Amino acid sequence: MASATEALLKVDDLRKDFGGVKALDGVTFSLAEGELAGLIGPNGSGKTTAFNLLTGVLKPTAGTIRFRGEPVGGNPPERNAALGMARTFQNIRLFRELPVLDNVMVGVHMRHGPGFVPTIFRLPSARRSERAIRERALATLEILGLEKRTNDVVGNLPYGDQRKVEFARALASEPSLLLLDEPTAGMNPQETADLGETIRRLHHELAITTLLVEHDMKMVMGLCQRIIVFNQGRLLAEGTPEETQRNPKVIEAYLGRRRKSADAAA
Ligand SMILES: Nc1ncnc2c1ncn2[C@@H]1O[C@H](COP(=O)(O)OP(=O)(O)O)[C@@H](O)[C@H]1O
Ligand SMILES: [Mg+2]
Repeated sequence: MASATEALLKVDDLRKDFGGVKALDGVTFSLAEGELAGLIGPNGSGKTTAFNLLTGVLKPTAGTIRFRGEPVGGNPPERNAALGMARTFQNIRLFRELPVLDNVMVGVHMRHGPGFVPTIFRLPSARRSERAIRERALATLEILGLEKRTNDVVGNLPYGDQRKVEFARALASEPSLLLLDEPTAGMNPQETADLGETIRRLHHELAITTLLVEHDMKMVMGLCQRIIVFNQGRLLAEGTPEETQRNPKVIEAYLGRRRKSADAAA
């Protein structure tokens, strides 16, 4: 059993090479139980790769990942989902032709369910738990204010609601670690502010340990207790939002570069 002071997640000297590209080049950080931390860094600095390694989508080249003290690096994604990790994706990954409810039920299955095969073939063992899974999904939709969307086909929803459905799917698994990869990407300012409030409220109510990758500096600095900064596959800095915003290395590597790209886009 992990003690209250022990990290929920501990990453040590994590490396991931893609051919000659060192996507992660020896990264060490940890997350305390119940923490809401931000992970920022320029495009290509390794944030999504870190999520892929944590969740088991990719295998580390080297280094260790411990979840409640248990080494989980290289586990298949199903195993880490069963241990309590859930994520959202930088690009929405939902079953667009299916109703909202079915999409969210997938999230429950990933953690607790009997798996797709018995569900699809309606085996008796599946039928009992199916009802519980449905209830759990409905409860999650209500938490996110999506109860009116339950039977809507996902592909027909406004973009902001699709993002919320993805969030609901992750949350429905009752995760102990929630990894959010740019959940506001493509949202308008109102949708971004709404989702920020939702993240704040859920973290406050459920105290799920959360790591948020977010480009919206106002949001990430306003929401998170601690900020972890990546640059070129390395840990550049970590600290409170105030420390991070003052840190000259961060300003140079991240904020400065963003300003330039914003100028270029303008
Ligand atoms: N599957 C992959 N194959 C090859 N290179 C990859 C792959 N995934 C990421 N990369 C490379 O790894 C680096 C880090 O990418 P990524 O983790 O997506 O960064 P971020 O999420 O911070 O923008 C980039 O140089 C990217 O091109
Ligand atoms: Mg990314």
